[in-house]
Amino acid sequence: MKNTKTALITGITGQDGSYLAKFLLDKNYTVYGTVRRGASEKFSRLEFLGIKDKVKFVDFDLLELSNIQQVVKDINPNEIYNLAAQSFVPTSFSLPILTSDINALGVVRLLDTILNVNKDIRFYQASTSEMFGKVQEVPQNELTRFYPRSPYGVSKLFSHYMTINYRESYDLFACSGILFNHESPLRGYEFVTKKIVSSLAKIKQGKEECLYLGNIEAQRDWGHAKDYVEAMWLMLNADTPEDYVVSSGKTTSVREFIEKTLDCLDFEYEWTGEGINNTLIDKRENKVIIKIDKKLYRPAEVDLLIGDSSKIIDRLKWSPNYNLNTLIEDMVDFEINNSKFNF
Ligand code: NAP
Ligand code: GDD
Repeated sequence: MKNTKTALITGITGQDGSYLAKFLLDKNYTVYGTVRRGASEKFSRLEFLGIKDKVKFVDFDLLELSNIQQVVKDINPNEIYNLAAQSFVPTSFSLPILTSDINALGVVRLLDTILNVNKDIRFYQASTSEMFGKVQEVPQNELTRFYPRSPYGVSKLFSHYMTINYRESYDLFACSGILFNHESPLRGYEFVTKKIVSSLAKIKQGKEECLYLGNIEAQRDWGHAKDYVEAMWLMLNADTPEDYVVSSGKTTSVREFIEKTLDCLDFEYEWTGEGINNTLIDKRENKVIIKIDKKLYRPAEVDLLIGDSSKIIDRLKWSPNYNLNTLIEDMVDFEINNSKFNF
């Protein structure tokens, strides 16, 4: 039977928005996606997935209340997935007020609009493992105390609790997914996994000389975005609205991620030096191909993330298809074979 559900995805031009749109279209949803006006094209991810013509676009900005009200009223969707955010942690240190306006107040604008337009709209909020920050427990689950370490983390913690507050105060079907880092070929170039895979592939092809990185000892729990967007849908289609951790349950340092990528690209390599003087040498070419740049360190770092996603696995039967090795293979394959796409 034809699915008659309608979904509104904020942030559809981003990594998760694109994969979620594909996932929902495959389930026969009518998909609306919000777009911020800008000077340049933003649809390359949707084009790569072959779905640009299947999505209905609406002009939207989380900073503008009357615009949010009009869009939600006009579409009156069954489900809203709020993926829009200023999502890059370093930018949140340089633009803390803008980050808070979008990521924190933007979510109240949306929740309050749902309350006033149609209380039956189901709402997903993109919460984050960055809220755990200086971790108070290992591994982190839904009950772990938060300790954010960036304006981004603080802004997301505000919207996390606001989502819970609207659920408890007004009985909205509002869920927060506390998602750990998830990556893919469609990841933005500023994030560390994409930066590493893309640069090392270019170095291998002789198109780039050297990759500069910040703190490579940080550890993250990395999964594949395709698996994580399915978790968002499971939450909004459950019997009750609840919050869930979504993670791989494994942690890996940035250094180890680099080494796995080097192996995948068939480099022979050697680390030399310590700390800030750490460099990586391509042994076949006898060239330094990775250096540390102190400017890329953050004012406060999240040293270690590792999630426990037993709740979503047990209750909603979430079952990821990728592990870190297959994620890296997917990202490397994309860099080698799809260089005309730029995100
Ligand atoms: P992303 O690629 O950076 O995409 C962010 C999206 O938000 C883009 O479509 C962007 O539009 C839009 N946006 C930014 N400011 C906006 C505003 N003022 N009004 C409306 N739209 C705006 O992020 P992602 O990796 O897909 O992540 C999706 C969400 O999950 C984000 O909320 C992020 O914070 C959260 N999250 C991500 C991860 C992860 O590992 N990826 C983990 C946990 C949580 P433009 O194209 O116009 O810039
Ligand atoms: N971006 C970046 N660039 N990070 C670097 C670099 C570099 O050159 N060198 C080292 N790192 C380290 C960072 O210091 C951080 O510890 C780690 O690599 C991961 O950085 P990002 O890939 O930028 O991700 P993030 O963990 O800060 O944030 C991402 O995940 C969050 C979930 O935990 C983003 O997607 C957030 O939006 C998301 O909420």
